Amino acid sequence: MGCDCSKVNKLENNYLKSHWDDVYTKPKEQLGWYEKEATPTIQLFAALNLPKHANIFMAGAGTTTFVDYLVEQDYTSIFVNDISSNAIQQLKERLTEHNSKINYIIDDLTHPSKLNDLPPINFWYDRAVLHFFNDEEEIITYFHLLKDKVISNGYVLLAEFNPNSADKCSGLLVHKYTAEEMQHRLGSNFKLQQAFNYEYTMPNGNIRHYIYALFRREK
Ligand SMILES: C[S@@+](CC[C@H](N)C(=O)[O-])C[C@H]1O[C@@H](n2cnc3c(N)ncnc32)[C@H](O)[C@@H]1O
Repeated sequence: MGCDCSKVNKLENNYLKSHWDDVYTKPKEQLGWYEKEATPTIQLFAALNLPKHANIFMAGAGTTTFVDYLVEQDYTSIFVNDISSNAIQQLKERLTEHNSKINYIIDDLTHPSKLNDLPPINFWYDRAVLHFFNDEEEIITYFHLLKDKVISNGYVLLAEFNPNSADKCSGLLVHKYTAEEMQHRLGSNFKLQQAFNYEYTMPNGNIRHYIYALFRREK
């Protein structure tokens, strides 16, 4: 008898959703990827001088403080996604005064449904999300969505574990990235603007090695 793969996928997705919902019962300051200020992201983003009405998408945003930065800077069209409803609920409560500027989308990047309705995106941001996708189909689906949504002259910032980093994040195996692999998966319409390795210190003092890579879509 063959495997009913859609059922297996559904079970795996339910497991992952509850994994992330459990994670987001902790205060954000205790998470292994917490940033009081998203410094490398802010430096790269600020230099782009995007207009305040730019459509900004945050894949797997969790409870990132980069959203706080964007609303403080008067960005008015922010799209925040996560698979965890607990993460989104925490953000909504924290940013309650700014909720008119923020669109919250609880959805799975590897099996998108509501995410298919995203508007054209000027800035796509992913820190420590893409690296959780180990299945080739899921990676392909992620990049398909990205290419469908990021418009010409739009930017993509990917910040993922690099090959020197740990094998796991949040107890889950990761797929580590180089700028070359990101470029290969994005394709030749996207041009690398800059890339650098970054050592992130976790709240417990351990180091995680990230690569930050900023791409611009030319066509
Ligand atoms: C390590 S955390 C990083 C959170 C945030 N990007 C940051 O830098 O603080 C990974 C995030 O990805 C989210 N996530 C994991 N798998 C996802 C999926 N398939 N679709 C959407 N979000 C996902 C998790 O819920 C979690 O918030």
